[in-house]
Parts: sequence; structure tokens; C-alpha cells
Amino acid sequence: MRTPLIAGNWKMNGTRAEALTWAAAAVEAAAESPNDAAVFPPDVWLAAVAEVVGDAIGLGGQACSWETSGAFTGATAATMLAEAGCSMVLCGHSERRHVFGETDAEVAGSVTRALEAGLTPVLCVGETLEEREAGRTRDVLLRQVDAGIGATRGPADPLIIAYEPVWAIGTGKAASPTEAAEAHAWIRARVAETDAERAAAVRILYGGSANPDNIGGFLEVPDVDGALIGGAALDPATFGRMIRHAPASAPEA
Ligand code: PGA
Repeated sequence: MRTPLIAGNWKMNGTRAEALTWAAAAVEAAAESPNDAAVFPPDVWLAAVAEVVGDAIGLGGQACSWETSGAFTGATAATMLAEAGCSMVLCGHSERRHVFGETDAEVAGSVTRALEAGLTPVLCVGETLEEREAGRTRDVLLRQVDAGIGATRGPADPLIIAYEPVWAIGTGKAASPTEAAEAHAWIRARVAETDAERAAAVRILYGGSANPDNIGGFLEVPDVDGALIGGAALDPATFGRMIRHAPASAPEA
């Protein structure tokens, strides 16, 4: 069975003190939850947050370079994230693709560097509103999934996928569980084309205006294995409620 992963992407938010408070609250909520949890703080707070979270929850970087080291001002190598205490890293988050212009090839490179550094890549995929309205959602998702999976060394490599429709991120307009179900099924079927076992095991998270009121609807979808949460993860009580969310049928943790 795939244990749901409830992950908070803090983006470029939070003072050092807030980061430590938010991390401690996530650890506390995870201890009382049937779900796994993870946080993705800004790079500069990673080492301090690592001290707070230990092995209790996952810790990840928000992006890593497709280069290993060198003259790349402002970039962070996957090996540096690992040394700072990370176990995972987002690859190809929508803002990296659409604000900073990362290409499929660059995202693929960061997946490879993450794996080489011993990190689990969280491959983020998602269509823009224009692509959805043009009926191109499936094509876009499969292209992004193929590029990311092609960058892994084989089906035994760890991998998490996040479906985050670009139009739903930070807009307050989440996808419907039906829209998520369709997209997640397309993604899992594509993974199954290369390896059925990997497809059965890979966790596919939903992201895009997830909040405590709508998370239940997403987690009820069989192919949705958790959530990647931006805005709602910046309030520790709200994020804690989402980490603690248990399906009605699940035994109390
Ligand atoms: P949001 O962000 O929850 O604020 O929409 C999600 C994300 O970007 O991962």
C-alpha cells in the first residue's frame, strides 16, 4: 500500500524562527498521523530545519541544479542538499518551469543529479490553463513524465510524482477530485508502460490550492497518494490539520 505523503512547499517564505516553528509543528502532527509528512524550506534554512525534523519527517530542497558543481551563481547542487540533511528534492516545480524557464531537459538533468546524490526526486508536472483549454493536458503530462522518468537510472530508483495543474497553484481554484483522478490515472498508466511494479509503488501527489477543506476529496481518489501544499503549509495549525487528515475508513493512528 502507498502511504499518503503530505508535503509542504514553503517557497520563498519564512524567517529562520518561523521555519523552526513550522518544522516542529509538522513533526508533532506527523507523530499523530497515519500519513507521512515532509517539508521543503528555503535552502538557507535547511540545515537548521534538519536539526528539528531529524528522521521524523522528510526534508527536501525546492530545486537542484542539473550541474554537479562549478560557476553557476545562485544554484544549489543536489549533493549540497543531501549534505544539509535532505532526503528529497522537488524537480521541475511549476514556478521553476514557468517563472525561471526550466526546460524538460533541465528538469531531467536535476532528476539525475538528485538520484546520484541519494535524494528522492519529486517530479512535478502540470498543464497550463491554455494547454488544458486546448485539450492538450494529457500530452503535456506524458511529455513531462517521460522526460523525468527517462532521467532515472531504472525502475528501482526512488521517485515521487506531483501533479500540479499550473492554473490551480496559488489561485484558490483547486482542480476537482474528478480532474485529479483523470490526470493521476494517465500518469500512473504511463509509468506502468515502462514498469508495472514501479507504477504500483510510485506515490503521485496532488498540488494546487489544496487546503484542509478539500484535501479529503483528493485523498479519496485511489490514484492520489498525498498532497503538495504551498500557501496552506505556511500556517502550522492549518498544515497540521492536513497532515493529520485520515480517511474515514482508516484506523486512528
Ligand atoms: P498552493 O501551491 O498550495 O499555494 O497552490 C502548491 C505548490 O506550488 O506546490
